[in-house]
Amino acid sequence: MIEFKDVSLVYPNGTQGLKNVNLKINQGEFVVIVGLSGAGKSTLIRSMNRLVTPTEGELIIDDENILSYNQRKLRKLRTKVGMIFQNYNLVKRSTVMKNVISGRLGHTGTLASLFNLFPKEAVSLAYRSLERVNIAEKVYMRADQLSGGQQQRVAIARVLTQQPKIILADEPVASLDPPTSHQVMTYLRKVNKEDNITTIVNLHFIDMAMEYADRIIGVRAGEIVFDGPASEVSEKTFEEIYGRKIREDDLVGGQDNE
Ligand SMILES: Nc1ncnc2c1ncn2[C@@H]1O[C@H](COP(=O)(O)OP(=O)(O)OP(=O)(O)O)[C@@H](O)[C@H]1O
Ligand SMILES: [Mg+2]
Repeated sequence: MIEFKDVSLVYPNGTQGLKNVNLKINQGEFVVIVGLSGAGKSTLIRSMNRLVTPTEGELIIDDENILSYNQRKLRKLRTKVGMIFQNYNLVKRSTVMKNVISGRLGHTGTLASLFNLFPKEAVSLAYRSLERVNIAEKVYMRADQLSGGQQQRVAIARVLTQQPKIILADEPVASLDPPTSHQVMTYLRKVNKEDNITTIVNLHFIDMAMEYADRIIGVRAGEIVFDGPASEVSEKTFEEIYGRKIREDDLVGGQDNE
């Protein structure tokens, strides 16, 4: 359902972000993208909702080349493709409920949402989404009163309320400690399996990638250098992706928590 056909992306300053990427991702897959800093992981993820626009090739989602989309089509695309960020991107001074229900913005008319006229169904969908990530008791708290892990769960609830077909998550656990990271990854994995939402996640740590992914994609200098199930990742694969031998600080347990 997602297909990259010879996709390249050169940024305006001449940096090659992606280079001849060919890739097919099926509905419901849980894919983790790994690679060095600057390898092109974010560029790859952000291409899929056109936060960045590849300069060559075709990027097909649900049988349409999204590279030729106009603004109206892009808005529809972004309703279908939800996004989760490292820094949660919540409206800090708003309540959890307001944040989560804003997941419906793409569905509800702008005018209605300006006046806070969300239909009752949207409110109950938002509440159910909070329940699914076990944070419904915080519904009327202000977002900035929650811990990082709780905020990221609210961000997952917001994306669920959007009812997307695809979830993109760019380093969703990079600001969290290891146990909280595992909790957030477990929820992402759970909703992926329950709702069959295609989920594509960038992760820093190879062991965490292997624990949660159906499939791992290794990126290096804008190119895909590994694509396969976690069970096929070996020390040699690691060296292909990272250009060096594995070290303790590549593993979640070896992370030095500030
Ligand atoms: N807006 C931009 N303009 C110019 N170059 C960019 C831009 N965004 C990213 N790049 C460059 O494109 C390359 C890929 O960047 P990208 O952000 O995709 O890497 P990444 O794998 O996500 O890295 P990190 O792990 O640090 O987040 C890098 O060389 C980066 O400097
Ligand atoms: Mg990145």
